[in-house]
Amino acid sequence: MSVEFCGLELAHPIINASGTFDAIAARRAFGDQLIERFPFAAFVSKTVTLEPRQGNPPPRLWEVAGGLINSIGLPNKGLAGYLEQDLPELACLGVPLIVNVMGFSRAEVAHLVRAVSEREEVSALELNVSCPNVETGLMMGADPGEIAALLHRVRPLTDKPLIVKLTPSATDVPAVALAAFRAGADAVSLINTVRGMALDPRTGEPWLGGTTGGVSGPAIRPIALAQVHAVAEAVPIPIVAMGGVQRGRDAHDLMRAGASLVAVGTESFRDPAAGLRIAAQLADLTSTVRP
Ligand SMILES: Cc1cc2nc3c(=O)[nH]c(=O)nc-3n(C[C@H](O)[C@H](O)[C@H](O)COP(=O)(O)O)c2cc1C
Repeated sequence: MSVEFCGLELAHPIINASGTFDAIAARRAFGDQLIERFPFAAFVSKTVTLEPRQGNPPPRLWEVAGGLINSIGLPNKGLAGYLEQDLPELACLGVPLIVNVMGFSRAEVAHLVRAVSEREEVSALELNVSCPNVETGLMMGADPGEIAALLHRVRPLTDKPLIVKLTPSATDVPAVALAAFRAGADAVSLINTVRGMALDPRTGEPWLGGTTGGVSGPAIRPIALAQVHAVAEAVPIPIVAMGGVQRGRDAHDLMRAGASLVAVGTESFRDPAAGLRIAAQLADLTSTVRP
């Protein structure tokens, strides 16, 4: 099941989706067992921003049929805290590290890319572009021109693989993927969460502290499949696919649609070892299902 991805040798094609597996907390809970049976072939960090963030006020989660809505709001220690405290711990996991970064201007993203890329523990970077560029008012990942300008700025700053995490809310996701590829992205990943909302049944007011949030889990799996299929037709670079993967069959479907790797997100909350189970199920399917 080993795969090559942007020059990295991975033991199997299953990795985690950013922000859905806290490897440092898991290491504390499970000790060296976690390292011996790490569920993913590479570890993707949650989003790192330049400055520390508290995240959104609670409540931050709402369960829906087939998934959940989160308005976590990207709490994190900021770049300096991540590099000093988290990265050395994550480097002990024994799998390649992919660091997910997000900035609110091209200059901020450039700063993040340069600083993260300098660290030898880091194998690749993922750009989370599901946020507005405060300089232009446009969402970085929603517009082909914005994404091209961003990549032109940051591509020369690193020789490491750059994965662009596309936003599913772009009007034309394949056009954004194509612009990212033409401006030097090594791979794209998709899908991020889909905007949703829930009302408190007692008051009728928005339940989530952030008013709206991102829907994830099996509810978005068909959207992921359609978007991965469309993006695979548009670009020749590898795709990391995610969105509602619960079983080997779901990962297999996304690979049939054009993905090279599959990331597991929400399912890890239910079963922290889901990555291993899904990789094993995928291996069984790949050996028994004829294309
Ligand atoms: C609680 C939670 C936190 C997340 N945090 C991040 C994050 O920090 N950065 C990011 O790029 N995506 C984040 N995501 C999106 C996931 O990486 C993934 O794109 C999405 O959840 C779809 O996959 P899934 O349906 O398997 O969860 C988060 C998702 C959830 C549910």
